[in-house]
Amino acid sequence: MLKLILLATVLAVAAAQTAVNQFPEGFLLGAATAAYQIEGGWNEDGKGENIWDHMLHEHPEYGTNGNNGDVACDSYHKYQEDVQMLKALNANVYRFSISWARILPTGDVDVINQPGIEYYNNLINELLANGIQPMVTMYHWDLPQALQYIGGWPNPLLADYFVEYARVLFENFGDRVKWWITFNEPASFTGGYGSSGLQAPSQNASGIGDYLATHTVLRAHGLVYHLYDEQYRATQNGSVGITLNIAGTEPLTNSTEDLEAVERSLQFEAGHYAHPIFSQDGDYPAIMRERVDANSAAEGRPRSRLPTFTQEEIAYLRGSSDFFGVNHYYTNIVTSGESGISPSKTRDSGIVSTAIRPYPWAFRNILNWIANEYPGYPIIVTENGFAALGYGGLNDTYRIIYYRAYLTALLQAVNTDGVPLIGYTAWSLMDNLEWNSGFTVKYGLYEVDFDSPNRTRTPKDSVAFLSQVYGSREVPQDYFY
Ligand code: BGC
Repeated sequence: MLKLILLATVLAVAAAQTAVNQFPEGFLLGAATAAYQIEGGWNEDGKGENIWDHMLHEHPEYGTNGNNGDVACDSYHKYQEDVQMLKALNANVYRFSISWARILPTGDVDVINQPGIEYYNNLINELLANGIQPMVTMYHWDLPQALQYIGGWPNPLLADYFVEYARVLFENFGDRVKWWITFNEPASFTGGYGSSGLQAPSQNASGIGDYLATHTVLRAHGLVYHLYDEQYRATQNGSVGITLNIAGTEPLTNSTEDLEAVERSLQFEAGHYAHPIFSQDGDYPAIMRERVDANSAAEGRPRSRLPTFTQEEIAYLRGSSDFFGVNHYYTNIVTSGESGISPSKTRDSGIVSTAIRPYPWAFRNILNWIANEYPGYPIIVTENGFAALGYGGLNDTYRIIYYRAYLTALLQAVNTDGVPLIGYTAWSLMDNLEWNSGFTVKYGLYEVDFDSPNRTRTPKDSVAFLSQVYGSREVPQDYFY
């Protein structure tokens, strides 16, 4: 119901639009971060260890230059400055994540860490006092290590732990937080149980562990959505969604084979997570069922590596989201063929990715694909940004070019194509710990001096650009070049 009201408002607002380069009224514009990448304070005030703390402490060689999130941007102490940075950007929304182990050090509700609750209360209050809406990701990859010791996400019980954690969040913050994202990019973090060797917790069970982990994550998402729906929505009036990463996906040639490869790639990369939640029929995409079942049988296994939902679970998951969150950075050019180790999700998909490119028009295509494939859901771009390897510094003209082109494409999708987009948060507010790439890959609008104990923040040129865009609510046709 709520999503229909949201959608009706979006369409009415879009219809009233005049210029193609303007954002509809009420459009959310802001920036995004994630707890492990910015907070630091890794063991302060009762915080528990998480899988990224654990992995990068045990295996500093899995990171870059031994970098880890122990201090990161020190946002645990500098959140007030972060809020001022958002204000200078003219942001009306801030997407950040909550560190599960800072709230529940054991992963379970036997210990609720009050200083952790306080930290997020302070951040949320500071945002609201500055006219910025909090948008909270419950899980941005940092599982409490205590839950990894019982197997992590492939263990079906994790869904029950997650729902209890979510309840603590709704109870403590739901009076002020109206935007909830259960998971950030399941396709990325479940790789930590599959073939993405350096993604925490680095459990190498390619083509098996990643499918099992996804199964639990989807069930966990459904439980949390229904918990909110049944117990909190009436009094808290917020929205609950999930964020998926979807790259642009374009064919190498216009052959039927390559066009089919595009569709298959989208079903394996996006449909795996989106189909059970957002499609009319629910369940995993038929093409995945077919291919993974066939490969599993050919490998001589008595069961498919892709788990099965019961009919009840299918019905329970279907429609369990108020909006569709999408992270988008670049475009894959794909063709049909075998790649990846066996077994692996890549091998199951029968896709070869031949190149990676930043194509704004392909971003527009993807937004249209989501709107057509899963009609009826408002869409929020929860991450989009650019890091040029080896480039740092404050003069980030290349980033301005990127944002201008991508935001122009986004507005074409909204104003010309009628895609029901309602928000955009740029990645990232500031340079931060880019996971295994450490502090060497910089996505920030603000530079952070990681050599200084103050973690001094300085605006890059892109801050002037985006603050103009966010303040005027339009993308300029020309901007100093
Ligand atoms: C993740 C972020 C990451 C960004 C840039 C996304 O996949 O959600 O945590 O920093 O991409 O690589």
